[in-house]
Amino acid sequence: MTEPNEIEAAGTERNQQKAAVRWIAIGFSVSAFASLALAVVYFLGGQPQLEGTLLAIALGGIAVGLGLWASELLPKGPFVEGRKTLHDAPVDRHEAEAAFEGDPEPVERRSFLLKMLGAAVAALGVAALFPIRSLGVRPGRELYKTHWTPGARAVTRAGTPLTVNDLDVGGLLTVFPEGHVDAADSQTIVIRLDEGEYEDPPGREGWAPQGFVGYSKICTHAGCPVGLYQQETRELFCPCHQSVFKVLEGAEPTAGPATRPLPQLPLGFDDDGYLVATGDFTEPVGPGFWDRDHD
Ligand code: FES
Repeated sequence: MTEPNEIEAAGTERNQQKAAVRWIAIGFSVSAFASLALAVVYFLGGQPQLEGTLLAIALGGIAVGLGLWASELLPKGPFVEGRKTLHDAPVDRHEAEAAFEGDPEPVERRSFLLKMLGAAVAALGVAALFPIRSLGVRPGRELYKTHWTPGARAVTRAGTPLTVNDLDVGGLLTVFPEGHVDAADSQTIVIRLDEGEYEDPPGREGWAPQGFVGYSKICTHAGCPVGLYQQETRELFCPCHQSVFKVLEGAEPTAGPATRPLPQLPLGFDDDGYLVATGDFTEPVGPGFWDRDHD
């Protein structure tokens, strides 16, 4: 037989559980709204402090909801069931049958809370999807080519094309493809060597007409401009981490952290006597990137 104080305790517990359900639903709702607000803020251009706050609220709402669910609604141990007499009074039997058939309230409550949790997690998922836009477009072949094309004139940053008389033996200039003096990936060092001392590496015959040899100015270590040339040793130096490249040997690195030669630009002179490229660099300029070796 159920005692009055047991009924009172059960009522109190039920009220506590209802309050817990309310707070759990509030936690999940706040989380869902914060996630949607986060998505909107991101979509409108983003604001780091606001985004951080909204993300904290979104995650915190789910955490509070789950914490209350675990502490207030799940059965608490230790679980010791008193042994009852085998023949209870009819009213107890009725209660047992009702319990056996199931009180619908916890089931409805559970499905309601699961729906709220699902909404909160789905909203957080939507907010998490938006940053994918920040990845930008796939680079495709862009990392493999520059603005140098066959016949493109080599010009100074001021846009002046070069003739054979514009650079003395031992001299060095930074050049760009005509019309693209702002193209950082195309910047090229042209050095005029004594024709007698330079031998074309195999496969690069004719790339250095009248001693004009061109190499990418972007260091293959970390992308600094390789701008220092020591004429006595025919070496190019990168000032960032002191990589050294041998100009007479295809710009092979001989010291420092760079492991790849500077890519060479094939050069020629057009019918008007201007220095031109006869093609693009035959390999990507600058430091290595993730899938270069697979292409
Ligand atoms: S960037 Fe040139 S050596 Fe590091």
